Amino acid sequence: MKNSCLFQKQKKHFLGLLLFVCFSAFSTFANNPNEAYIFSYTSGKSFDGLHFAWSIDKINWHPIGPEYHYIHSDYGRWGSEKRMVSPILFLGADGLWHCIWSLNEKDGTFAHASSQDLLYWGRQSYPVVMINKNCLTPEVTYNKEKGEYTISWLSKDQTETKAWCTTTKDFKKYSETKNIPVTEYKNSRSTILIAGKQETGSINKVAWSIVDGLIKTQQLSAYKTQLWAETTKTDTERFADLKPVEAKFTLDVTKSKKISNTLLGIFFEDINYAADGGLYAELVQNRDFEYTISDTKGRDVTWNSTKAWSLKGETASYTIDSINPIHPNNKHYAKLAIKKTGAALVNEGFDGIAVKAGEKYDFSIFARATHGKAGKLLIRLVGKNGEIYGETTTQSITTNWKKYNAALTVKTTMADAGLEIIPQMTGTLDLDLISLFPQKTFKGHKSGLRADLAQTLADLKPKFMRFPGGCVAHGDGIGNIYNWKNTIGPLEARKPMRNLWGYHQTVGLGYFEYFQFCEDAGAEPLPVIAAGVPCQNSSTGSAGQQGGVPMCDMENYVQDILDLVEYANGDATTKWGGKRAEAGHPKPFNLKYVGIGNEDLITDIFEERFTMIFKAMKEKHPEITVIGTVGPSFEGTDYQEGWDIASKLGVPMVDEHYYQSPGWFIYNQDYYDQYDRSKPKVYLGEYAAHLPGKPNNIETALAEALYLTSLERNGDVVSMTSYAPLLAKDKHTQWNPNLIYFSNTEVRPTVGYEVQKLYGQNAGDYYIPSEINLSNNQENVKTRIAMSVVKDTKSNDIIVKLVNLLPVAVTASVDLKNGNLGSNEAIKTVLKGDPSDKKAKPIVSTSPVSELMNAELPAYSFTVYRIKTIGLNK
Ligand code: AHR
Repeated sequence: MKNSCLFQKQKKHFLGLLLFVCFSAFSTFANNPNEAYIFSYTSGKSFDGLHFAWSIDKINWHPIGPEYHYIHSDYGRWGSEKRMVSPILFLGADGLWHCIWSLNEKDGTFAHASSQDLLYWGRQSYPVVMINKNCLTPEVTYNKEKGEYTISWLSKDQTETKAWCTTTKDFKKYSETKNIPVTEYKNSRSTILIAGKQETGSINKVAWSIVDGLIKTQQLSAYKTQLWAETTKTDTERFADLKPVEAKFTLDVTKSKKISNTLLGIFFEDINYAADGGLYAELVQNRDFEYTISDTKGRDVTWNSTKAWSLKGETASYTIDSINPIHPNNKHYAKLAIKKTGAALVNEGFDGIAVKAGEKYDFSIFARATHGKAGKLLIRLVGKNGEIYGETTTQSITTNWKKYNAALTVKTTMADAGLEIIPQMTGTLDLDLISLFPQKTFKGHKSGLRADLAQTLADLKPKFMRFPGGCVAHGDGIGNIYNWKNTIGPLEARKPMRNLWGYHQTVGLGYFEYFQFCEDAGAEPLPVIAAGVPCQNSSTGSAGQQGGVPMCDMENYVQDILDLVEYANGDATTKWGGKRAEAGHPKPFNLKYVGIGNEDLITDIFEERFTMIFKAMKEKHPEITVIGTVGPSFEGTDYQEGWDIASKLGVPMVDEHYYQSPGWFIYNQDYYDQYDRSKPKVYLGEYAAHLPGKPNNIETALAEALYLTSLERNGDVVSMTSYAPLLAKDKHTQWNPNLIYFSNTEVRPTVGYEVQKLYGQNAGDYYIPSEINLSNNQENVKTRIAMSVVKDTKSNDIIVKLVNLLPVAVTASVDLKNGNLGSNEAIKTVLKGDPSDKKAKPIVSTSPVSELMNAELPAYSFTVYRIKTIGLNK
């Protein structure tokens, strides 16, 4: 049986179960009615959506689910703002079901979506119909003669209630909002009793098949939820009688298919302090005095230009000024008034400054002496009790802004030193962009990356790196969209910005540094640019995130993207290629991929902008593979609509995202088996197995390893994959799980990292299909065993990856028929542990190749065999 057949069988089992469930539910309706009433309602709470109840007599109502929701509102910021309030459902003249709802009690906007069957709902739109007034309890009437809908609503403030209306023929264009007498506004909603609770909503008469569809959809969903909730916690009961399993894999090494040679890459986003305070080796926090309270959206009142800075000593004072700054993009600086020498401006670093004995550090500062005598700056790294770990001095400070450099060698290893700047002069002194970098950065680049962290990334042997996000790429509101042009050039000219994860981005780790790291790590750069719309969970801007870049600005926006290609690939004589050369890289970076959009809400506003960008890229840079976006889930409206747009436009690849339970990964190993090979290729740009409590442990790592066998098997349609997120700093982790945790002094790769590394280091470019025969054909046993065999034509190696997610050992026999083996020995790597183990490390050994005929796969393990051949047939 082919691997994919295994999953087909599992699916049959699944459908069988479903039929059983449905039959049981409907056995009381042997004679189904032709028609019924449906009642649609919602609770108005965040994340809730449209519920249905049905009735034959309009008296006895049967909730479906109960309270299973078929569509939810995607307007507003993530969390409490995603609300559907007072929905009204009606059958339109076009034969479609339309739903209109209010979004909250403050915005002058309602929402609209339509559906053919009440099950699949299309795009949502949020027309802005009022400025500075709310839009409550919308109602709809239809004028047949005009073919026009009138939408009316109430608008309330503390003193009065007014009624308003607009008209539309297509729910895309709306007439100007008009004031109407409140008496003209009619609320058609009914209030009924469901399970003892009063609910308000709309009643519609429908064919029974509609009710049937609603019920079956809910039941299928409930079944899937239960199936996918499977965790190893209940394995003891689930597999109480399970004996060790035998698995026989049959394959022929000469029969293979070409798969992507860029399958495993990395996803970098500045989340969890991944950039500043993380991969970017800068040791001074708030070096440019540009922190502002808005970085944290007002949450942290101490977060301002003085954050991480303090003054030591009584003989000086300091303020923050912005007159005549070093650069308009870098407005704030520290102004020191020194009465007597001895006082110091002190930076605490990012949770302290970690330095190593014997290593050299580069200090730099922009300074000008505005009053008083010229003098030097004494620079010291000091401990909590004033111990001096290293010191240096700058040259004398002159009257105009100038950059001063000085190096210092550290005497003692310290985890939390402070940096002191001690002026050796009296008078007034302006200071900005105060920086301290280890000289030992990754590949020794000046102002570069933290060597240990960067090396940990490079060890994954990533074939590509995506940057700068994630949500950071499309930003929190239009003003927060990441603009690559603000992140290149001299540091003082870069434009720092608020990080949507609630902190500050210096953009010192900018596009040049990203490209350079990709080159150093042998990874293809994959920049992701917003599709002209910010994040759907934005907290700023009107009409949710979908305000979009105004169309009048889109031409420039598109040009910026075209300029990026020139920056990366143009020769040094071009405008943007010249800037790259100025930065020290005359040779092109050989950019091949550009992502447009990040799991956006797919709306008309998105489509208009995405299409414009895609067409321009296709015309000007047909050599670039553009990667589109299909929402934040493996299913649903954004997924469907995103795929439709990509297929219609002929976008070469789309970016899929899904964070799911290990059970989802176990039961969806056939997800790509059915993908249409003639459609766009897939970049699985964000995924991870999530358990309650969000650990990164053997259970999640093996679920990912299992799923990755299916990604290799589907490597002809899945071109790229990247686990997300990548990095998380201790005490600053906003999202779990991540692949690598770190502090200022430690790097702690997770077990999930070990799985990624084993796949990255053991990638192939040809996949060899296999058939599997098990001694135990129980469905939940089959889905926990998987194998993938690839050939790497560069090294002439065959790599066998075997995953056993069962609580018992599996004896596998893998016959590498026609393998042309060049050695009797294989390199064997085993990662195993208890499901909750977070610390397991792979154990590498050599073993005879013959072991593969009788390989013992321990309970909860991932085993990789790497075997040399004397030449491979493709
Ligand atoms: O990976 C963390 C976040 O998850 C990304 O920023 C976003 O794209 C997704 O929702």
